[in-house]
Amino acid sequence: MNDIHIFDNTDDLSEAFTAMMIRTISEKGSISISLSGGSTPKALFDFWAIRYPKAIPWDKIKFFWGDERCVPPGDEMSNFGMTRRHLLDKVGSPESHVFRIQGENDPVQEALRYGDILDAHLPSSKGSPQFDIMLLGLGDDGHTASIFPHEILLWESPQNCVVATHPQSGMKRISLTGRVINNALHVVFLATGKNKAEKVRDIIQHGSDFLQKYPAARVAPLSEQLSWYLDHEAAALLP
Ligand code: 6PG
Repeated sequence: MNDIHIFDNTDDLSEAFTAMMIRTISEKGSISISLSGGSTPKALFDFWAIRYPKAIPWDKIKFFWGDERCVPPGDEMSNFGMTRRHLLDKVGSPESHVFRIQGENDPVQEALRYGDILDAHLPSSKGSPQFDIMLLGLGDDGHTASIFPHEILLWESPQNCVVATHPQSGMKRISLTGRVINNALHVVFLATGKNKAEKVRDIIQHGSDFLQKYPAARVAPLSEQLSWYLDHEAAALLP
């Protein structure tokens, strides 16, 4: 299941991910991608904006998010806001192809609304919306999307999206659930830096031992297409 790619630097990682994404677009004609938040994907977005502003067919990509902080889009914590600053405003992605989670809304209502958006705009497989590419980050505590260890059972929710709570800040978040994440045709973990190394090793080498502890250990796409795009630091503890 684990397809592992290790790179010398974030440019080489971004180049490889971009090549994979462009191959997928050429095979399918167009794709849906769920973006992760946090800091790691910034390097990928900057890479696209600087090196591929024209070469990637942005009108063939529908952008969604795997999670969002419950803040307005202009807030510095907003995942959409970060993506808009680093990518969307620079490459002219059509507004009609950008499906942001509306962090300014009531969290419970927004989880339902976004879940309906996924059902409306994505193909359904086995009763759940299906993404072409699901980009995931890996939290230092083993979370992914915004499913955190202290509320790991949200992963099993029958809904497409749930309201989660950040364990330290208490900030509310909207997150996709396991049924959507594991329904994607291709799931890609993007992890760089030495602070990811332990969780990368635990999940790749001993994932079954951490199913109750790390939400990221529960990522197991039905398609069996699970890739890890890592730098040497994040991969340092792998054999
Ligand atoms: C978020 C993310 C989250 C992130 C990990 C890794 O909204 O924070 O979606 O799941 O991917 O926490 O974050 P970094 O890339 O900042 O390490």
